[in-house]
Amino acid sequence: MTLDEKIGQLTQIGPHFFLHDLNHELTGPVTELGISEEKIYLTGSILGIGNAREMKKIQEKYLAKSRHKIPLLFMADVVHGYETIFPVPLALSTSWDEDILFDSARVAAIEAQTAGINVTFAPMSDLSRDPRWGRVVEGFGEDPLLNEKFTQAMVRGFQNGDISQEGNLASCVKHFAAYGAAEAGRDYNTVDMSKRILHQHYLPGYKAGVDAGAKLMMTAFNVFDGVPATTNSYLLKDVLRNSWQFKGVVISDYASLKETIKHGTSENGYDAAVQGIQAGLDIEMATALYMQNLRKAVEAGDVDVQLIDEAVLRVLMLKKELGLFENPYKGMDLEKEKTLVLSDNHKMRAKKAADASIVLLKNENSILPLKNQKIALIGPYATSQAMMGPWSWHGKPENSRSIQSVLEEKAKVVYTNSAKNSQEIHAADYDKIKTADVIVLALGEAANHSGEAHSRSVIDLPKNQKSLIETFQKLGKPIVLILFNGRPLKLTDVEPQVDAIIEAFFPGTMAAESIVDILMGRVNPSAKLTMSFPRNEGQIPIYYNHLNTGRPFADAKDAYTSHYLDVENEPLYPFGYGLSYAQFNYQNLKLSKNHLKPNEIIVVSVDIKNDSDVAGFEIVQFYIRDHVAKVSRPVKELKQYQKIWFNPKEEKKVTFDVTINDLTYISNALETVYDTGRFSVFVGTNSISCLEAQFQLEKE
Ligand code: GLC
Repeated sequence: MTLDEKIGQLTQIGPHFFLHDLNHELTGPVTELGISEEKIYLTGSILGIGNAREMKKIQEKYLAKSRHKIPLLFMADVVHGYETIFPVPLALSTSWDEDILFDSARVAAIEAQTAGINVTFAPMSDLSRDPRWGRVVEGFGEDPLLNEKFTQAMVRGFQNGDISQEGNLASCVKHFAAYGAAEAGRDYNTVDMSKRILHQHYLPGYKAGVDAGAKLMMTAFNVFDGVPATTNSYLLKDVLRNSWQFKGVVISDYASLKETIKHGTSENGYDAAVQGIQAGLDIEMATALYMQNLRKAVEAGDVDVQLIDEAVLRVLMLKKELGLFENPYKGMDLEKEKTLVLSDNHKMRAKKAADASIVLLKNENSILPLKNQKIALIGPYATSQAMMGPWSWHGKPENSRSIQSVLEEKAKVVYTNSAKNSQEIHAADYDKIKTADVIVLALGEAANHSGEAHSRSVIDLPKNQKSLIETFQKLGKPIVLILFNGRPLKLTDVEPQVDAIIEAFFPGTMAAESIVDILMGRVNPSAKLTMSFPRNEGQIPIYYNHLNTGRPFADAKDAYTSHYLDVENEPLYPFGYGLSYAQFNYQNLKLSKNHLKPNEIIVVSVDIKNDSDVAGFEIVQFYIRDHVAKVSRPVKELKQYQKIWFNPKEEKKVTFDVTINDLTYISNALETVYDTGRFSVFVGTNSISCLEAQFQLEKE
């Protein structure tokens, strides 16, 4: 390969460069890229593709001009479904069920493969403690353990063992690293934290992806320690390559290499290109600094050509492992695209995922499930078919039903209105609404109020929707609120005004069917929050695994403690919270012993009874607290959980084995350590309602 051919493999551009006549329709972008048409045909991969026909056309055109017949690699954001859209990842994470996450990725891979896509830019493993950040919708919440588990599940679901097999995608974990810690929750903003906190909370998710065999890692837009992640050799070399032994491909985020100029750490494109290749960045996405500058840099002695050879080898090895040299169209299948995509089987699996990913936040006087009440269904999401949320670019609303259309088959709906505010409800309407026994409001954020570049400083329901709730509250009828949103919302004002709250987030293609099944009790909600819901924005960042501080708030009498004058410290709904139509009671927390040596196990047991006539899942959570260590440790840390089915009136003894692995932490020397001393274990139905017991960790 010539040097230019090698450098081409390290460049990724959009499909439009191949789908349009470069000389006329694309002079702008080609000029913008700053490369000739000839070099366009040296690029190694494509970002995004619409369907099998487009992919086939591009690959044929490209190979016809390729000297070595090295196939193009097609990559895309297939995050929570391709055409059969599953719940957004933040919702999927509330299932606390790795099988659900795995299956979401499986269906997405099978469908995306029919279009010839071979790499997905997913899962997003950016832990976040800030609901103002728009991209919390794409992640798995605030807990490191869940972030690890669900990242692993999705990587395995996408790759399914052998990426050369049809129906399997190479997974690109993103965004390395700590993108979810953007200051003030403002997307693309500065990230600043200690290396210890980075390693303790933020890196485990990405590492779980590497350990699960992810083939690519995408760099983040933000800086870490003042250096952009895309040219950060501490992250890309010290951590990713040397410590984690990652052998896969490192790809930038969209134009993030060129953005190092705006960050002020690169003088110009040449400088950025040199820094990128030296830091270990293999593929540059959406810009062509490598193509424009690396040859010059090699000739000037600023870049050792071996760095380029190593990067190119990783890209070619990925193409080889995908089987593209044998079949450049691997997976692309015009027939399967018609039969596999949006199949009944896929929709059934998406429904199962949605059933498990909808959180019951409130159910006053067990107003839910509805029985044969007359229903007034009101709100923008009452008649909408678009409940898929961000990154559902290939999903289509017409593939979904509305809540109205499904509910009318199962219940007595006496009135429906897609009103967004009270002005849209007229006098005559009230006569009909008054005949209803219950008002069901389907409200929430627009899909584009979360996702990339969509952070919010206020996380309220839209004002007009809040006025709608107030209007109906005056009628004195029970109100059930169904929420569609891509982040935890501030529900402090709304909560007292309604009798039940169903947090649906964005449930995907089968949203309506799942929501109606939960409303009518055919599905018993079991999901639990994976992000805290703050009482107001002033509490943010707010998360359950916080430190105790030297002045923990105990009660109002002691003024000089860590608290606010105007709001309590606790969130409105805590991490791990979610109700069921069943009633689970925990008692008899017991430890097999109260002293543990590092090589021993303590068996923790608890008796849980379903004191109801309704069967359902309970997600039993196990937390620890390390009371004395070399660094201040969180008041709680999730270490294990079990999702357990209970028949009506069934009682089970649930056990957790505590080992030293549950008791370690990252020291200031960035080592995994433990300290002897007093520990607490907590077992409960959420991070606040727990039974507690203590034990002593002793020396060997
Ligand atoms: C975007 C996103 C990233 C996505 C990439 C390609 O800017 O940050 O998550 O995978 O570009 O679409």
